Amino acid sequence: MKMHLLLRLSVIVLAFVTHQHEAIAQYVPPYTSIVVPVNKHTDAAKDLYSVQIMTTYVNMQYLHAKFLIDLDAPFIWHDCILQWNIFPGSCPNNTYCTSPVSCEEFQCTDVRTSYSYENSASCPPVTNSSTLPGWGFCTCPVNVINPINGSCGDAQLSYDQFTVNTSDGKNVFTGLYGAYPNAAACAPSSSFKSFPANVTGVMAFSTSPYALPALLFQPLKKIIALCLPSTSSAPGVLFFGTGPYYLLPNSDVDVRSLLSYTSLLKHPDSFGYYIGVTSIVIKQKSIGIPVNSTTKLSTLEPYTTLRNDFKYLRCTCKKYTFISHQHEAISQYVPYAHTSLVAPIRKHIDAAKPLYSVQTILSVGDKLHENLLIDIDAPLTYHACIFTKRIADRDHYCRIEKICRSPLPCNEDPCRDLQNIYTYHNPSCPSITNIPSPPDIGTCTCPVNVLDPVTGLCGLAYANHDAFILHTSKGRQFFKEVFYFFQYASCASSTSFKSFPANVTGVMALSAARYALPTSRGYLVSITQIIAICLPSRLSVRGVLFLGNGPYFFNPQSDIDVTSYLSYTPLLKQPDSFGYFIRVNAIFIKNRSITVPANITTKLSTTDPYTTLRTDIYNSVVKRFSKVTKKIPPAKAIAPFSLCFKTSKYNGTVSLKVPGIDLSLQDGKNWTISTTNSIKQITKNVACLAFIDGGATSEPAIMIGTFQFEDNLVVFDNVNSRFGISSSLLRKQTSCSHFNFTLTDNTYSK
Ligand SMILES: *[C@@H]1O[C@H](CO)[C@@H](O)[C@H](O)[C@H]1NC(C)=O
Ligand SMILES: *[C@@H]1O[C@H](CO)[C@@H](O)[C@H](O)[C@H]1NC(C)=O
Ligand SMILES: *[C@@H]1O[C@H](CO)[C@@H](O)[C@H](O)[C@H]1NC(C)=O
Ligand SMILES: *[C@@H]1O[C@H](CO)[C@@H](O)[C@H](O)[C@H]1NC(C)=O
Ligand SMILES: *[C@@H]1O[C@H](CO)[C@@H](O)[C@H](O)[C@H]1NC(C)=O
Ligand SMILES: *[C@@H]1O[C@H](CO)[C@@H](O)[C@H](O)[C@H]1NC(C)=O
Ligand SMILES: *[C@@H]1O[C@H](CO)[C@@H](O)[C@H](O)[C@H]1NC(C)=O
Ligand SMILES: *[C@@H]1O[C@H](CO)[C@@H](O)[C@H](O)[C@H]1NC(C)=O
Ligand SMILES: *[C@@H]1O[C@H](CO)[C@@H](O)[C@H](O)[C@H]1NC(C)=O
Ligand SMILES: *[C@@H]1O[C@H](CO)[C@@H](O)[C@H](O)[C@H]1NC(C)=O
Ligand SMILES: *[C@@H]1O[C@H](CO)[C@@H](O)[C@H](O)[C@H]1NC(C)=O
Ligand SMILES: *[C@@H]1O[C@H](CO)[C@@H](O)[C@H](O)[C@H]1NC(C)=O
Repeated sequence: MKMHLLLRLSVIVLAFVTHQHEAIAQYVPPYTSIVVPVNKHTDAAKDLYSVQIMTTYVNMQYLHAKFLIDLDAPFIWHDCILQWNIFPGSCPNNTYCTSPVSCEEFQCTDVRTSYSYENSASCPPVTNSSTLPGWGFCTCPVNVINPINGSCGDAQLSYDQFTVNTSDGKNVFTGLYGAYPNAAACAPSSSFKSFPANVTGVMAFSTSPYALPALLFQPLKKIIALCLPSTSSAPGVLFFGTGPYYLLPNSDVDVRSLLSYTSLLKHPDSFGYYIGVTSIVIKQKSIGIPVNSTTKLSTLEPYTTLRNDFKYLRCTCKKYTFISHQHEAISQYVPYAHTSLVAPIRKHIDAAKPLYSVQTILSVGDKLHENLLIDIDAPLTYHACIFTKRIADRDHYCRIEKICRSPLPCNEDPCRDLQNIYTYHNPSCPSITNIPSPPDIGTCTCPVNVLDPVTGLCGLAYANHDAFILHTSKGRQFFKEVFYFFQYASCASSTSFKSFPANVTGVMALSAARYALPTSRGYLVSITQIIAICLPSRLSVRGVLFLGNGPYFFNPQSDIDVTSYLSYTPLLKQPDSFGYFIRVNAIFIKNRSITVPANITTKLSTTDPYTTLRTDIYNSVVKRFSKVTKKIPPAKAIAPFSLCFKTSKYNGTVSLKVPGIDLSLQDGKNWTISTTNSIKQITKNVACLAFIDGGATSEPAIMIGTFQFEDNLVVFDNVNSRFGISSSLLRKQTSCSHFNFTLTDNTYSK
């Protein structure tokens, strides 16, 4: 029996059951959907449809790729190169490199056990492997099923990126939307031979958490509207989002008004979409359908397949063209599941001076960490790591005791830059030419000078391709989900860190230098351009480092974004320094201004413990300060300080109360240094004004040190070139140790 089935719907809308997520920012973007063109292909074994999606930005343009539309696939896979070093320039021209998911990350087990392709009969069992040069860890191979000929293929899980255009249903905006799956997969180009020409991937639109719909957040809602074209000469369209949707020529008819809805059904063991069809009516004659029979929607099967041999169901779709590319000014809005990266900061007093370190993750599975000194002056991160070619025994040799990295060859682009410009400039540094490569490397390497911030002495390191891992956050959480960022750094021998606090084996360069963390140009690193540092005042607690533009929340005021406490002043540049400078116009102590000479520079430092003032400024400050504290009994000065007080009731916190010291900044804002940041308790009975005389010619004339930063939130905003200071958080009944470091699941990524 052959019958022609009339299908009234020309647009298929799949509405998901959405999880009610907590409301995010009030920002209401101008778009209501994302939009991608759909092409029909007739040159493969069967008719198929693809979406065109942008993958990555290389050589000043987005690469576009065509992906088969697959409503069933558990994850996205496509033709890409898995490379652990994915710096611009390290990938062949106009190809897309992604970085591997290691077998130890949760996605690997999750995909293999719960979100893999069913059909394992034809698939070999998956194993772990470690095959990428420079990557010390195992990769995560997975099986993929070719949707055209059903055969099994190999792919490797990777961190991927997909970019699409936004729309209000009528206009295509220039604003883009980025989707960042926890895992997609790279397959070799040969896997796509049986695909239509120029189609090099499978875009999963299923209900799996690794499919595209799971990666799109507010305001889109998880609604897919698909309009397949009937010819290969004109594209159809896929919308994602609530609508409205318009198709020409009826530019004011929201096509949602033409829709009839039915419930989507779930089917065990499938990520696809099902509906219930109860009967088929042809010319008023009803044909009964057996109860409980399932009706599946497929974008890979060209014809509707019915148990009793029905024929020809074709979704026809009017030609779509968008009306215009108006709204050019819409800003780029790329929502992440997280808004910042976050890491704990610890204070150390077991080296020659107090220092602060940030804890980064070395290996996700093993919970290994690395502590790096926070240095806002350093041009290049360096840490204890080694190069090895012994890939075979990498797992044993590199993973636990040592960190292995791949060297930057001497002839690769940034090497000369690093050696000549973005290096430590210090008279104690020797010439770095003619330094031999470490043994066993077999390639020329790129030696660089590094400066030990404790001793001030020059040391040797070798530039490398590096990666750092931090936890993600939306300002108040410490998500289990981590984020890799890739940057150039350097490896120094572990003996280089003897002067450092115990267990601190490197320096994290947070300066504005080209290869330091904020300006690194790796993968998705725009988030690293804003650095917020909150130094703890005690050893037993953790402060916090945020990368990314707020909000940030501290207990107990879980509803107050601490960025609201910030006063901003412009960040200034200073020749021959990669560090951060601001302008201090005057210093006020109890309403009286101390004149600060015009045009002096004020430098910020995370490796100098106390604020150092040029002698003329120092003397004026001390004179004024002793005047306003003359009721407090003085004590014999304890070096390096010169103004000290007797304290009687010391019980762990400074018991003196002194007037605040206001630094009047450019643009009129004040940085108020209150007692906890101006007075340091030295012994049980003596507390001193924690400022130091830098000498008559000290340059910079003012250098603000870490004691004055403790329990203040400070923000180095390299996007807007400004410095933000909260003044003491203690006055707001919170402190730098009040970030909640309880590990939590990121509900958006699941
Ligand atoms: C890659 O592209 C860049 C920029 O277009 C060009 O300068 C370079 O020569 C290309 N390299 C190769 C190997 O084609
Ligand atoms: C792969 O390695 C991870 C981490 O070592 C382990 O948990 C997992 O069982 C391994 N899987 C296979 C298939 O060998
Ligand atoms: C999407 O946006 C990109 C970049 O703005 C543009 O090059 C491309 O043509 C747009 N695609 C469509 C279908 O409008
Ligand atoms: C299916 O297609 C792939 C290429 O896309 C090919 O490598 C494989 O051999 C094909 N399998 C069969 C059974 O034809
Ligand atoms: C595939 O892409 C190439 C290069 O962009 C183009 O010349 C060719 O016409 C495309 N083939 C098809 C069938 O679209
Ligand atoms: C249909 O499914 C329901 C619920 O799963 C079941 O109770 C009923 O027996 C099924 N009917 C037939 C005819 O299989
Ligand atoms: C250094 O790390 C080791 C091993 O994790 C630990 O036992 C030790 O207490 C740490 N030392 C300090 C000073 O933190
Ligand atoms: C500062 O001056 C203002 C007004 O001139 C006065 O109200 C205030 O009490 C003064 N503050 C101190 C600490 O002297
Ligand atoms: C301060 O700097 C400005 C601009 O660089 C310059 O015009 C001015 O003469 C300088 N003033 C002093 C006192 O050096
Ligand atoms: C020290 O004493 C002050 C008041 O005398 C009190 O507020 C503070 O909590 C005490 N601190 C400690 C650590 O006991
Ligand atoms: C800064 O502090 C001084 C003195 O304490 C005060 O006179 C001035 O009004 C303050 N400025 C701002 C913007 O609060
Ligand atoms: C810290 O965060 C965890 C996880 O979100 C939460 O359960 C706990 O209540 C928080 N603690 C405080 C003091 O807010």
